[in-house]
Amino acid sequence: MLQAHALPAEPASTIVPEKAREGIDVQINGESFHHTGDPQMPLLWYLRDVLRLTGTKYGGEHGENGADLVLVGDTAVSAVTVAMHTLAGKSVTTVEGLAAGDGSLHPLQQAFIDEDAIGCGYCTPGWLIAGVALLRRKPKPDDGDIDQLPNLCRCGCQTRVRRAIKRAAAGKAGQS
Ligand code: FES
Repeated sequence: MLQAHALPAEPASTIVPEKAREGIDVQINGESFHHTGDPQMPLLWYLRDVLRLTGTKYGGEHGENGADLVLVGDTAVSAVTVAMHTLAGKSVTTVEGLAAGDGSLHPLQQAFIDEDAIGCGYCTPGWLIAGVALLRRKPKPDDGDIDQLPNLCRCGCQTRVRRAIKRAAAGKAGQS
């Protein structure tokens, strides 16, 4: 014969069950975000229109001029070609996230200043991201490595950009 069990006087747990949340969790510049909008939304528009991180520029329909590059992990990718749903659990760094937490510039940012490698500035965020990715995979890049970066500059800064990347690689950012 079955015995009736007395109900406990107190609930066994105070945890309130929650339904699984829809959406995409992504880290951007070290902060956690949860995107509940269109999963096909390009990362570029999420950065610029939702987070108001406008450093990353439009680089053409297919990111062909490199101005929309961001780091996903250590890899430079075109933010206009990456849909939000592909970024679940990933870590994105934009140009706004290159400086240290205390505001000190990344050595490559400093080297761009040292070499006066900035004209109008439209292409600069993309160059910085591409350069950081290059320095991570090849700490001593040669001219050929730099010339293979996808970035374009209408202001004619390529030569100074090349010098800036090599200055950062040599550990001479901020030195005269
Ligand atoms: S600095 Fe103007 S496009 Fe490069």
